[in-house]
Amino acid sequence: MTSILTAFENQTLPQSYLEADQQELCARITRAKQTLGTDLLMLAHHYQKDEVVAFADETGDSLQLAQIAAKNKTAKHIVFCGVHFMAETADMLTDPHQQVLLPDLAAGCSMADMANRHQLTIAWEVLQKQWPAEIIPITYVNSSAAVKAFVGDHGGAIVTSGNADTILRWAFTQKKRVFFLPDQHLGRNTAYHMGIPLAEMALWDPLTSQLLTNAGQEPLTNEQAPDTKVILWNGWCSVHQQFSVKQIETLRQSIPNLSVIVHPEAPHEVVEAADDYGSTNKILQVVQASPAGTKWAVGTDHNLVARMAKQLCPTHEIHFINPVACACLTMNRIKLPHLAWCLEELAAGRSVNRITVDPATTASALKALDRMLALS
Ligand code: 13P
Ligand code: SF4
Repeated sequence: MTSILTAFENQTLPQSYLEADQQELCARITRAKQTLGTDLLMLAHHYQKDEVVAFADETGDSLQLAQIAAKNKTAKHIVFCGVHFMAETADMLTDPHQQVLLPDLAAGCSMADMANRHQLTIAWEVLQKQWPAEIIPITYVNSSAAVKAFVGDHGGAIVTSGNADTILRWAFTQKKRVFFLPDQHLGRNTAYHMGIPLAEMALWDPLTSQLLTNAGQEPLTNEQAPDTKVILWNGWCSVHQQFSVKQIETLRQSIPNLSVIVHPEAPHEVVEAADDYGSTNKILQVVQASPAGTKWAVGTDHNLVARMAKQLCPTHEIHFINPVACACLTMNRIKLPHLAWCLEELAAGRSVNRITVDPATTASALKALDRMLALS
């Protein structure tokens, strides 16, 4: 039997890939892709590095990539250039003869790691006592397969930033209250734009197992509890939390006629200070559809904003809301050496960094994923 240690060692990038230069790596990736032909489908999220996106068959936001993976029934190997929860989702949505690989296993998502099944089980018990049979769980796709499975088993659905409004509206046709995890900001921003006041939102703190008011500063009182429509998990994205109203105000002062668009993982006050908000794909579409010469400040990960400025929106003036913000470190784990290794191993008939979700978890999570895809 293979030990965990051996399995892990087998997933370690050989030194030779780190020593190869970019030109050589590109040539090797091109060769491996040619060998694999239509057996390979290479997907890349918008936050991936330019040199990785250059090799992708398809790029997109989380919703688009999940839909592409679900639709493709022919590719034997799906190399997912993104983060772990995206590869897990693709594995669950593809057929058994298809395998999903993540070029670097360290490409996780710190927000997805803020909710685990154990914490969710505790939260659910407390919330059921508070509001028996009145809550539906909704999880952002940025969550583990185990969390998705819990949500599927409890009648809930998955959302992405591209369909959160549609799914939340559906959720309220099912139950009186929504438990939204793990991103408090996406949940708050979506609910607020549906017309739910902040006073009717509460915050669940998984570290103290406490129900707090929306602002998270004091416990929710018995008087406030009956009005609560949305319970937000206290999770966030470290990249999008770096944006502030002050940055937007400063930019608006120095750049006349500036339009601002941000991702809904940004805090509520930032979304309110912007002109528009949406998924990475919506950001791209809105900016590209605006008249040439429009000046935009964009609040999302640096790789996408830089690519918009350089390549995707050549007739627009693109600014980054916070030019000194840290990029998504885990998205940036996927680099040419890992990609070359993964593809060359596949071309040689071997698999490294395969992502698999066990059948029981998959069956439960698919209930929630299929609800989302049917509604999207
Ligand atoms: P999108 O689905 O909008 O691409 O967002 C995914 C993500 O992780 C944003 O941080
Ligand atoms: Fe996760 Fe934030 Fe990175 Fe998106 S940008 S993958 S939410 S850490």
